[in-house]
Amino acid sequence: MNIFKKAYCRIYQGVFRLMLPLLPYREPKILKTNEEVASLLKAKGKQSVLLVTDKGIRRLGLTKKLEEELASAGVGLSIFDDVVPNPTTQNVSDCVKAYKEGGCQAIIALGGGSVMDCAKAAGAMVAKPKKSLKQMKGVLKVRKKIPLLIAVPTTAGTGSETTLAAVITDSETRHKYAINDFPLIPRYALLDANLTVGLPKHITSTTGMDALTHAIEAYIGRSTTKHTRQCALDAVKMIFENILKAYNNGSNLQARENMLLASYKAGVAFTQSYVGYVHAIAHTLGGEYNVAHGLANAVILPYVLKGYGRKIYKKLWEMGVYAGLFAESASIEEGAKLFIEKIEQLGREMNIPLVLDMIEQDDIPSLASTAEEEANPLYPVPVLYTAKELERFYYEVKNGL
Ligand SMILES: NC(=O)c1ccc[n+]([C@@H]2O[C@H](COP(=O)([O-])OP(=O)(O)OC[C@H]3O[C@@H](n4cnc5c(N)ncnc54)[C@H](O)[C@@H]3O)[C@@H](O)[C@H]2O)c1
Ligand SMILES: [Fe+2]
Repeated sequence: MNIFKKAYCRIYQGVFRLMLPLLPYREPKILKTNEEVASLLKAKGKQSVLLVTDKGIRRLGLTKKLEEELASAGVGLSIFDDVVPNPTTQNVSDCVKAYKEGGCQAIIALGGGSVMDCAKAAGAMVAKPKKSLKQMKGVLKVRKKIPLLIAVPTTAGTGSETTLAAVITDSETRHKYAINDFPLIPRYALLDANLTVGLPKHITSTTGMDALTHAIEAYIGRSTTKHTRQCALDAVKMIFENILKAYNNGSNLQARENMLLASYKAGVAFTQSYVGYVHAIAHTLGGEYNVAHGLANAVILPYVLKGYGRKIYKKLWEMGVYAGLFAESASIEEGAKLFIEKIEQLGREMNIPLVLDMIEQDDIPSLASTAEEEANPLYPVPVLYTAKELERFYYEVKNGL
């Protein structure tokens, strides 16, 4: 990247970094039971609520207990269960329609990141009926309170229950983009590990690797605070300690609970300290080929970490020591390489592929350019790349190193 563009990116990131303590970040209040959700809605005088979810989750009966609890509390319920993975602009408009038709006053999003993001974006459209989603793409474009939103994650996960982002895919162009603004941070998050015990193995592994990617990208970025570094370190440690347990025995409730908490903490870390090129690349693959978000991150992560090289050795070493992956006596370089190896080992033990061969060579220049636009200048990545330089990662992810 040329020196002027580099300077522009670093100055832009520096301004955001200086503003960080002044920005209205908040964390959702954590709820533990369906009863708490029902009494909260009653206490706030919400008589009618929209439950946003997807068909798979509904079929599994995961919404049943909450539906019953709301019914017995006398809270009126409308249900929108058409969200698809990598939720689309069409999903969001349909969701808004259901909200309006139901005369709803609040939203409960029960599902993975796709459901939570669709609900957040729908909330933004309710708050800003004259603006299209596309017009709210980017940073600080919502600027208005959205309806009361309670997030109930069923994957661990995206951390969307605590972040200011909603990631949406344009139904027509397949362009995947984020809307980032403070009103999108859910007011409440219900963390109930029982909802995640039935997660299929491949979703446990890939969504868990998404959370790991959040923590790592936040930690190696240049815009961290003491709090976000601590959250990221805790998340990395908890994920290394629990992901295989949850993967190998889905009903290990303690491991499930720890993964939910880890995903939440990783969310707190990256919503203030950003993600990086792994996510920017993953979003293009999710948009273009509908690759599941966690899977894309899981495959891309080791390639990008290796690409950053020495610049991140110290931070990788710190995370590895904190997570107890090797002794403090390991040299910085040795530790950094071991840390990446441990990630690759997790991938192998959970049957995550090494490559994503659906990437079409001809698509690479435009995908790389979209990833570059998402990342620069916003993400305070350890090494800055141009679109041309990013192409290399697409080839690596397509063919292997
Ligand atoms: N807003 C943010 O901060 C943020 C952060 C990271 C990712 N994302 C976005 O989140 C989306 C991915 O979310 P995700 O990884 O949670 O997956 P998802 O929500 O797309 O769900 C994947 C599949 O898992 C199923 N599922 C979910 N919970 C289940 C359960 N408990 N039991 C059985 N099946 C279950 C769903 O029905 C779906 O078929 C992507 O669009 C990604 O871009 C958002
Ligand atoms: Fe993610």
